[in-house]
Amino acid sequence: MATHPMIIRTIPRLRRTLAPYRDAGERIALVPTMGALHRGHLTLVREARRRARRVVVSIFVNPTQFAPNEDFGSYPRTFESDIKALTAAKVDLVWAPTAAVMYPEGFATRVAPEGAAKVGLEDKFRPHFFGGVATVVAKLFLQTAPDFALFGQKDYQQLRVVTQMAKDLDLGLKVVGVPTVREKDGLALSSRNAYLSATERAVAPALARVLKAGAARIKMGEPIEMVLEEAKTEITRAGFVLDYLEARHAETLTPIASRKDGPIRLLVAAKLGKTRLIDNLAV
Ligand code: PAJ
Repeated sequence: MATHPMIIRTIPRLRRTLAPYRDAGERIALVPTMGALHRGHLTLVREARRRARRVVVSIFVNPTQFAPNEDFGSYPRTFESDIKALTAAKVDLVWAPTAAVMYPEGFATRVAPEGAAKVGLEDKFRPHFFGGVATVVAKLFLQTAPDFALFGQKDYQQLRVVTQMAKDLDLGLKVVGVPTVREKDGLALSSRNAYLSATERAVAPALARVLKAGAARIKMGEPIEMVLEEAKTEITRAGFVLDYLEARHAETLTPIASRKDGPIRLLVAAKLGKTRLIDNLAV
């Protein structure tokens, strides 16, 4: 039987545990998560193991990235089964701080990302979100000082924001983006898929289908605006309430008018009942 990863809940113990790895010249990879682990997260862990001798997975449902009306309270928490999955994945260490360890009484600093964090996609609908993500991810990077940190392309704007932050703040690690893991029917794996009713679950893959068809048509040279308008109609007709569907520059996430301004990424966010889903695809 594989041995259980060490579960660490305080910063001094985390530092004490990681120091000998570093002294021995072993590389460390960090996979930040909010738990409720699925195959998408575990793919990040596998990629981390490919790159580094030591793998740290953080599990922390970060209160500062949820608005008061969002799902912080009901966000799925499945710690026991997460640990089982991470044992099978041969993770060395699970960093699971409490909110009081991460944000002690009197905590008063926030990282305020700009650039890709201010392009009018997720930030427009969740204005508090990237400040919360950047603050907690900066702390996770400084707490663990990894050589690599693995993030999913599933949360594409988040990946761009943390990549830029690591560079701008000289955090001395490489942020690695990992392709989105999907169900057989194309639905991107997400902890929030657990909120979908059976009927909604049957509708949900339409999002990925529309992205795929749209990307193919843009690649064939059809005008971007027209493709997007038709795709929006299709998403709405399937039963979603659309937040956005846009074609953006794949690196800067700035708006793009034609294919020659590329590389292009299509990004979408839409609600199905109470559940908000996001997805994206390269053109
Ligand atoms: P969470 O939603 O738990 O996701 C943790 C990591 O798993 C993120 O990098 C996310 O992009 C990746 N991921 C999720 N679904 C995926 C999929 N289907 N395929 C590939 N990767 C996938 O994102 C967060 O947590 C938080 O914002 C966090 C970065 C931990 C900061 O609190």
